[in-house]
Amino acid sequence: MRKRIVAGNWKMNLNVQEARMFFDQLFGLSESNIDVIVAPPFVYLSEFSKNIGSIKLAAQTCSEFNNGAYTGDVSAEMLKSLGVSFCIIGHSERRMYHKETEAILKNKVDKLYENGIVPIYCCGESLEEREGGKAFEKVKMQIEKAIFHLTPSLIKDIIIAYEPIWAIGTGVTATTQQAQEMHAYIRSLIDERYGSEVAQKVRILYGGSVKSSNSKELFAQTDIDGGLIGGASLNFEEFTKIIES
Ligand code: PGA
Repeated sequence: MRKRIVAGNWKMNLNVQEARMFFDQLFGLSESNIDVIVAPPFVYLSEFSKNIGSIKLAAQTCSEFNNGAYTGDVSAEMLKSLGVSFCIIGHSERRMYHKETEAILKNKVDKLYENGIVPIYCCGESLEEREGGKAFEKVKMQIEKAIFHLTPSLIKDIIIAYEPIWAIGTGVTATTQQAQEMHAYIRSLIDERYGSEVAQKVRILYGGSVKSSNSKELFAQTDIDGGLIGGASLNFEEFTKIIES
């Protein structure tokens, strides 16, 4: 049985007062039987890592290097020293605006594992790729090139987030069938490469316009183990409803 995850990706939102208020509300959440993860911007990680209750902290990205002359970057080791347990990598916004390739993401995956941080590896196709019948090919490439170098004992802990680009922040959610179909496909890729025991352990999240009105149906699918939530994670009531769904 895979433990469900609801992860909130704040992206570049909320000033420090708003972030504090939001975290105060989150701390009040009672312990639940799912993993609730929040990924605030880097600048808030230090403050919130001291007092996180049942919530687990994630970063939104990290450097592919250990340390050195990389102005503006943050290393996996720094995140570890703050007690951050998860890190989103390969989000389509990072791929697009920061030119992150699979080769770079593969390095980031390694840095995270070296520091005991679980990667939340994002993948997903564009609208053009979906309409051109290339969605599965694209996701296969993203998975194979960035995470299939891992050993079975490492990859079993990874979290994969399938986020079709056309569904992110657009209000258009993939249908439950489309999402389940891609999640089952991703699991089948892991099964072929690592065997079913490993494939059954990997948690695969859906992301892209998840809200409380669609989360229950999405999360009920066999291969959907929870969600990576953007916009709706900034609204406490919405986020709580999604956690409860
Ligand atoms: P959204 O974003 O929920 O606002 O569509 C999801 C994400 O980008 O992780």
